[in-house]
Amino acid sequence: MDSARPPTAPARGHPARGIVVAIDGPSGSGKSTVAREVARRLGLRYLDTGALYRAVTWCALEHRLDLEDPEALAELAERVVLQISTDPADFWLTADGRDATAVIRTRPVTNAVSVVSAVPDVRAHLLRLQRELIGSGGIVVEGRDIGTAVAPDAHVKVFLTASSSARAVRRSRELDGPVDSATDAAAAMSQTRAEIDRRDRLDSSRAAAPLVRARDAVELDSTSLTAEQVVAEVLDMANEITSPHPLPVLGR
Ligand code: DC
Repeated sequence: MDSARPPTAPARGHPARGIVVAIDGPSGSGKSTVAREVARRLGLRYLDTGALYRAVTWCALEHRLDLEDPEALAELAERVVLQISTDPADFWLTADGRDATAVIRTRPVTNAVSVVSAVPDVRAHLLRLQRELIGSGGIVVEGRDIGTAVAPDAHVKVFLTASSSARAVRRSRELDGPVDSATDAAAAMSQTRAEIDRRDRLDSSRAAAPLVRARDAVELDSTSLTAEQVVAEVLDMANEITSPHPLPVLGR
């Protein structure tokens, strides 16, 4: 495993420009919305690490790889060239030059990604890439193991949770869009909830960098908070860390 860590010292320019904000948590906890908005408001970059695991999974499905073959998956993760935007206002991702921005969010990828992301050598390859992207900081990074494995020296660490039913409602809205009837809505929700529960179980029980709260992470339960309230809490944490030189915060 790569032992290099992102630097702890803030970098050039504004004294707080090198800050690293880690936001971990299970699916549907609101990580992406919050991480992107915090990055935008603080003028920082944003890294969606789940998108990298999704991209490898998409390539594996495209190449019809056996998902039970960890060596083939690891070889793919080493070989594929991933490029990802770190602009919080403009997300895109390519795999070997092919645009994969939308396809990585589809159900086949979502349902296969936990298996691919449990392979230790896949994680080792993507760990290196994530640390390269984090570079000298100035970034908000969201994922499952950012505070524990990818950036253990991050200046701000948040572990974002929400009740399993709140998470299912949020994910259902994202995945299923408007549905025709209450029965369709209930069926879509129960499928999404079962998928979320299965993915959480796999993500939390895998041997390599499982989803666990870092000891020094602040746990925020977003069940009855709005995204804006969670964003405000994270901005407060960032301000506290960067005091007496807090980053200027942009408006909504
Ligand atoms: O956040 P997401 O749903 O896009 O993540 C997709 C999958 O990738 C998720 O099932 C767990 C995995 N993942 C991971 O293992 N480590 C990360 N840092 C980010 C995501």
